[in-house]
Amino acid sequence: MNKKSHEVFVWPLCTRIIHWIIASSFFFAFFTSFYHHLFRWHLAFGLIFGIVLLFRLIWGFVGPNYATFKTFKLSLRELQDYFAQKVHNRWRKIHAGHNAASSWFTLIVLGLGSWIVLTGLLLQGTQEASGILSCLNEHYFHLSSTFFVFHEVLSYLLFVWAIIHIVGVLIEQFYHKTQMLFAMITGYKKADGNDASVSMVRHLFAYAVIGLSIVTLYIVAHSSETFLTKSRFEKRDFKAENRTFYEKCTLCHKTYPPFMLPHASWIRLMDGLNNHFGEQITENNITKEEHINIKEYLLSQSAETSTHKVAFKTLDSLGDMRPISMSKVPYWREAHKNIEKSTFKSLPIKDASNCFVCHPDFEYGILDNTRIHIPR
Ligand code: HEC
Ligand code: HEC
Repeated sequence: MNKKSHEVFVWPLCTRIIHWIIASSFFFAFFTSFYHHLFRWHLAFGLIFGIVLLFRLIWGFVGPNYATFKTFKLSLRELQDYFAQKVHNRWRKIHAGHNAASSWFTLIVLGLGSWIVLTGLLLQGTQEASGILSCLNEHYFHLSSTFFVFHEVLSYLLFVWAIIHIVGVLIEQFYHKTQMLFAMITGYKKADGNDASVSMVRHLFAYAVIGLSIVTLYIVAHSSETFLTKSRFEKRDFKAENRTFYEKCTLCHKTYPPFMLPHASWIRLMDGLNNHFGEQITENNITKEEHINIKEYLLSQSAETSTHKVAFKTLDSLGDMRPISMSKVPYWREAHKNIEKSTFKSLPIKDASNCFVCHPDFEYGILDNTRIHIPR
C-alpha cells in the first residue's frame, strides 16, 4: 500500500464495492423505469438496491468503526459547525469518519431508499400481480395507484438528493482539494484518524451480499420466471372455460380476454353483432342460445370481476365511456402513445386490434409487460 503520512485508510474494498452498487443500482433502476422494455432490468436493479440498503443498515450496527451509526454526527450544532467551517476555512482539516453532512446524507438515503424499495415491491405485487408480494393483487389492487405515487415521488427526491451528494463531493475535490473523489476508489482519505480494520467475519458478510447482488441480477434479468418475477396469473384455457365462446369468437381473430372490457361494453358488443367492425354476424353464425351463452359468460368475466392491471386501469380511465374496442380506451391510448400510427399498419401487425403480435399469449389472458415486443 502506498500510504502517505496524512492519509487514513477508511474504506476497505468490500465497502467501496457496496457503495458503488448502492449508487449504480439506484441510478440504473431510475433510468430503466422510463422504458417499458427494460422493466425486468428495473426490477433487478431495484431488488439489488434493496439488498445493499439492508446490508448498509445492518453494517451501521455491526460494521467497522467508521461505518457505524454511533459514530455519526447528528446534532444540529455539528451540522451548523460543519457548514460554517466549510465556508470560512477552505483548507480545514477533515476527520476520517462521517462528518455531520454525510451522516445525515447516509441516514436519509437509507430512509428514502427503504421506502422506495418497499413501495416498489408493493406496486409490483398489487399492480403487476407478480413477485414476492403477488398475493396482494387479489385484495389490494386498488391501492396500486397510491403505491405508485409514493414510489415515484420518493424516487425523484432520492435522485435530487444523490445529485446534491455528487455536487458536495465535487466541491470537496476541486475547491477544498481533499481528493474526496478518489477516496471511494482507493479507500484512502486525506484526513486525521486511525486506519479502519475489518474482521474476517465482516469481510465474509460483505462479500456474501455482493455475491447475492450478482446472483439477483442474473436470475431477474434472465428471462425464465422465478419467485421474484412470477405472475399470479396462469395461462387461461378459454376453450375449456366456454367452448361456444371459444369456437364462435375465434373464427376471425384470436380470443380477446373477457376481462379487458367492462360489463356495459360487452352488452353493446354482443347486441351489435349485426355490425361487428364491418362484419355481419347473424343467427346463421351464432344461434340465439349460443348468443345468450356467450353474453352471460362475457358478463361474468368482465373487467369489473378482474384484478388484472389492464382491467382495473381500463375501468379507472373510462369514466362513463363504454367503447367496444380497446383502442378507444384512454388508458390504452396513453400506453401506446409513443408508437407510430404506421407501426400499427405495418405488415405483421395490420391493425391496433391485433394485440397478440406485440403481446404474446394475450389470447390466453396473459399481459406480461416484461415480454412486450414490436415485430419488425
Ligand atoms: C366474422 C368475423 C368475426 C367474428 C365471428 C367475430 N369477430 Fe370480433 N372482430 C372482427 C373484426 C374484423 C374486428 C376488428 C379488428 C380486427 O380486424 O381484428 C373485430 C374486433 C373485435 C373486438 C375489438 C378488439 C379491440 O380492438 O379492442 C372485440 C372485443 C371482438 N372483436 C370480440 C368478438 C367476440 C366476443 C366475438 C364472438 C361473439 C367476435 N368478436 C366474433 C371480426 C369478427
Ligand atoms: C404494435 C404493437 C402493439 C400492439 C398491436 C398493441 N400493443 Fe399494447 N403495448 C405495446 C407496447 C410497445 C407497450 C409499452 C408502451 C410503453 O412504452 O409504455 C404496450 C403497452 C400496453 C399496455 C400497458 C402495459 C403495462 O403493463 O403498463 C396494455 C394494457 C396494452 N399494451 C394492451 C394492449 C391491447 C389490449 C392491445 C390490443 C387491443 C394492444 N396492447 C396492442 C405494443 C402494442
